[in-house]
Amino acid sequence: MGLEKQITGSVSVTHAQIGLIGLGVMGRNLVLNMVDKGFAVAVYNRTAETTDRFLDESPEQRHGLVGCRSLEELVAALELPRAVMLMVKAGDAVDQQIEALTPLLSPGDILIDGGNANYRDTRRRFAAVTALGFHYLGVGVSGGEEGARHGPSIMVGGSQDGFAPVADLFRAIAAQVGGDPCCAYLGPDGAGHFVKTMHNGIEYGDMQMIAEAYYVMRHALGRSPAEIAEIFQDWNDGPLSSYLTEITGAVLATIDPESGEPLVDKILDRAGEKGTGRWASAEALELGVPAPTIAEAVAARALSSLKDERVAAATHYDGLGISDPSPDERDIPVDALEGALLTGKIAAYAQGFAVLSAASNRWDWNLPMDEIARIWRGGCIIRSQFLDTIAAAFERDTGLPNLLAAPDFADIMATRHGELRRVVGAAVAGGLPVPALASALAYFDSYRSGRLWADLIQAQRDYFGAHTFERVDRPGIFHFDWTAEDRA
Ligand code: 6PG
Repeated sequence: MGLEKQITGSVSVTHAQIGLIGLGVMGRNLVLNMVDKGFAVAVYNRTAETTDRFLDESPEQRHGLVGCRSLEELVAALELPRAVMLMVKAGDAVDQQIEALTPLLSPGDILIDGGNANYRDTRRRFAAVTALGFHYLGVGVSGGEEGARHGPSIMVGGSQDGFAPVADLFRAIAAQVGGDPCCAYLGPDGAGHFVKTMHNGIEYGDMQMIAEAYYVMRHALGRSPAEIAEIFQDWNDGPLSSYLTEITGAVLATIDPESGEPLVDKILDRAGEKGTGRWASAEALELGVPAPTIAEAVAARALSSLKDERVAAATHYDGLGISDPSPDERDIPVDALEGALLTGKIAAYAQGFAVLSAASNRWDWNLPMDEIARIWRGGCIIRSQFLDTIAAAFERDTGLPNLLAAPDFADIMATRHGELRRVVGAAVAGGLPVPALASALAYFDSYRSGRLWADLIQAQRDYFGAHTFERVDRPGIFHFDWTAEDRA
C-alpha cells in the first residue's frame, strides 16, 4: 500500500523526521506541537481508527503528518537515522513496542520513550536496545496536555549520540524561557526518567504544602475559597510566583455551575496518584537520602484515600477539645502563611535536589544540577521563578551539598523560618493536619542542628546488637559492654 492510501484526506509529506507511536492526549499534542514547529511526523496507533480520527481532527497540521497503519509503514516513512518516539502507557506496553520495533530498525536508529517510565526500566531497556546497535533515549516530558501542545519541559537521558539528531526538534518543541529551551541532555541510561521522577516528587511536596496552607486558611482562619483565591493571586506576584500558585488561585475562584457554590467544595477529598511520587520517595529511601516532605506528601494522599475510615474516626474522636480555642489570625497571620510556604518549599526542593545528587553519584550520571533547575523554569508543573535562584546557586557552587547551604536560601531561611514555625505550631496545637509543612520544618531543624539525638540511637544499637559507635573525643570504632555485672 502506498503511503498516500494509508491516511485519510490530502497528503503533503510522505517522509518524516520522527515517528510517534501512541496517540493518547500527550502523544497527540506532542505531534501537533512538532508539526507547528515545522517537523514532519509519521504517526501510528495500535487502533487504526484513532489514527484516522486524529488526522481528521488536525486539518491545520495535516500537511506535516504521515498516518501509518502498521509499524512497517511507520518505519518506511522515516528519514535515516530513524527516530521513533513511544508515547504509550509506562510499563509492559513499552517493552512490547520495543520488541515489535527493533527487528524493523537499522543500526544507528533511535528509540525514544517519552512516557513516565520508572528509571530502573529505562536502565534495563537502554542496555538491551544499545546491545542491539540502536540508540535509546529515556525522556521525561512534563507539563501535562497543555505543555505537550505548546511547550513542555524535556529531560533527556540515554545515548548522547542518539540525542544529537533529534536535539533541534526537542529544543524547538520545548517551552522557552528568555530564549532558552527547557530541554537538555542530562545523562546516560535512566538519568532523564530519574530527573522526571524527582520532578514529580517535588511536585507532590509543593502541592501538598499549598493544600495545607489552603486548609489552614479555610478551617482555622475561616476564609472563603474566593478570599483564599485572592490571597494566592497576590502571592503569585511575590516570591511564591509559580504555575502551581497561579492555578490554585484559579481553582479556588471557580464556581460549580450546577450548585453555584465553590467547585472545590464539591470535590471529594480523596487524592489520586499514578505512582511517580511513590517512586521518588522509595528511591530517596533506597539511596538513604532524607526526603521527608516528599514522603509525607505521598503518605498524605494515601491517608486522604481512607475517606470512610476518616469519616468514622471523625465521629469517634469528636469533642476532643483540641481546637478550642482554634488558631486564628493572631496565631497565624496570612503573611506568615506566605513565609511558611516559601521556607517549606525551599526545604522540599533541597530534599529533591539532594536525592538527584546522590543518584548521580550512585550511577555515575554527572547530572548538571544547574541545568536541571534551568529546564524546570518553564513548561513543567513546578515551573517558577524560584528555580532561577536554584540554578544560580548550583552555577555558583557545583558541589553544593544542599540548597539550605546556599547563601541566598540560607538568608531566606534565617529571616523567615519563624513563620513556618508559627504556622506549624499553631496548626499542631489546633489539631489541624499539616504533615508536609511540619516535615519541612523538622528537616530544616534537623539539618541545622550541630548535634542530634543520634548519639542515643547509636548507644541503643550498640547495647542490643553490638553495632559499635564512634566517639567524639578520639578516633576509632568502639563497643561498650553495657550490661557488665560490675557496673549494675
Ligand atoms: C507532569 C506531571 C505529570 C502528571 C502526573 C501526575 O510533570 O506533567 O507530573 O507527569 O500530571 O501523572 O501524577 P499523579 O497522578 O501521581 O498526581
